[in-house]
Amino acid sequence: MMRLALAIVALCALQSRAAVPAAGQGVCQSNVDCSAAGVCHEGTCQCETGYTGEACQQLNNLTIPVNSGFRMDDYHIWGAQVVKVNETYHMFASAYNASLNFFQNWLYDAIIVRATATHPLGPFTFQNVVLDQIPGRWDKNPMNPKIVRAADGTFLLFYTGDADDQGLQRVGMAYSATVDGNFTRVPHPVLEPAPPGAWDSRITTNCAVTVRPDGGLLMVYKASCCAEPASQTQVCLGVAGIDDWRQFNFSRLSPDPIIPCPANSFNFEDPSVYYDPNSDYYHLIIKDEYGTVTHDGYSGAHFISPDGIHYNVTTPALSYWTSHVWSDGRTRRMNKQERPEVLLDEHGSPLVAYFATDTELDGSQNKTWNMAIPLNPSLL
Ligand SMILES: *[C@@H]1O[C@H](CO)[C@@H](O)[C@H](O)[C@H]1NC(C)=O
Ligand SMILES: *[C@@H]1O[C@H](CO)[C@@H](O)[C@H](O)[C@H]1NC(C)=O
Ligand SMILES: *[C@@H]1O[C@H](CO)[C@@H](O)[C@H](O)[C@H]1NC(C)=O
Ligand SMILES: *[C@@H]1O[C@H](CO)[C@@H](O)[C@H](O)[C@H]1NC(C)=O
Ligand SMILES: *[C@@H]1O[C@H](CO)[C@@H](O)[C@H](O)[C@H]1NC(C)=O
Ligand SMILES: *[C@@H]1O[C@H](CO)[C@@H](O)[C@H](O)[C@H]1NC(C)=O
Ligand SMILES: *[C@@H]1O[C@H](CO)[C@@H](O)[C@H](O)[C@H]1NC(C)=O
Repeated sequence: MMRLALAIVALCALQSRAAVPAAGQGVCQSNVDCSAAGVCHEGTCQCETGYTGEACQQLNNLTIPVNSGFRMDDYHIWGAQVVKVNETYHMFASAYNASLNFFQNWLYDAIIVRATATHPLGPFTFQNVVLDQIPGRWDKNPMNPKIVRAADGTFLLFYTGDADDQGLQRVGMAYSATVDGNFTRVPHPVLEPAPPGAWDSRITTNCAVTVRPDGGLLMVYKASCCAEPASQTQVCLGVAGIDDWRQFNFSRLSPDPIIPCPANSFNFEDPSVYYDPNSDYYHLIIKDEYGTVTHDGYSGAHFISPDGIHYNVTTPALSYWTSHVWSDGRTRRMNKQERPEVLLDEHGSPLVAYFATDTELDGSQNKTWNMAIPLNPSLL
């Protein structure tokens, strides 16, 4: 990108001095240089609604209304995806007993709940328990929900299932004809770990799913190696797909991690993936735990892909940060800000980014909740 940028500047300098963009304004040659999230116009990126930054790489972090997001009195809330049905926004979220320590019990205490709001920023109100604990099953504790609407209108709820005291997470799936109906759980995981020796042979977890233009589904998942020794090493992200959700069994689309993943590394997790009809690209927004590609510490990165399988990081890489301006005029830095999920509007442009956080507006860190960041100025 840098070499390309210099080449363009040199070329422009030869042809027309007026065409040279000002330093720091960003230099693009194609829409891909604008993170497939904007249009390259005379060497400068013009961002689609919902994105900002010199290369449209950043989710457009606007001022957050203090009265937004989703909290429950007796539960820690941790991460969500939202689906709009008619004029109502339905949030599917993980919930945990608030009298237990969330960071010690998140693997053993989960249920999935639904909450609704008439505005996409909320505040959301609890409606019902969607997936409860079922003792004895591989997915006793269902968590980390992702909700997508299949091409035939069926609501598909993906989640991480975990049996007690084993830590052996698997990707699960449930389905319902209506958003507020009873979700039927598929009895087996829909993406099992790969055979011994593979990078993803220990667990499959924390998936994100989007509907492909052909009506099939694309899944990005987190996995790790190996079953022995019993501690996970090399935590990476993979990609899988399914042509028809009724097959209940995703196939790997690549044997390798989709982002370079050195031995013993744990750099990225919590994917949000969506197909962008405006650019015909897939976007992957993901937590960059140590700032490996953003070079900005605990933050979020942006990757793009023309086929959902092969990804490149955007330049710059930063998709979100953890410090925000709120409607009371204060700037707050979240201690934890995880599980990004992007809600698109009816044009396929980012509308809201949801995150799990442990930090309350008064600075306390006793109870987790979901925050909602507006990406489109029309929301405010
Ligand atoms: C949404 O609106 C359609 C058309 O009015 C109606 O048939 C459907 O039942 C509504 N869905 C929900 C979940 O309210
Ligand atoms: C939450 O945990 C406490 C302490 O173990 C227990 O007394 C209470 O019944 C639990 N609440 C729910 C809703 O499970
Ligand atoms: C959901 O299941 C419960 C218990 O089996 C049943 O009473 C209820 O009618 C069901 N609701 C729907 C919308 O199917
Ligand atoms: C799921 O798919 C994989 C590969 O596509 C296949 O090896 C496996 O047998 C299938 N499992 C079931 C339960 O259909
Ligand atoms: C990633 O970027 C390289 C260098 O610009 C390019 O050659 C390659 O085609 C890109 N890959 C994808 C999947 O877009
Ligand atoms: C948006 O993010 C940028 C870069 O991290 C930051 O400087 C700015 O204050 C943020 N704006 C709001 C409204 O949070
Ligand atoms: C809430 O958090 C604050 C600071 O994080 C701490 O001082 C306080 O003891 C906590 N309160 C409860 C009830 O845990």
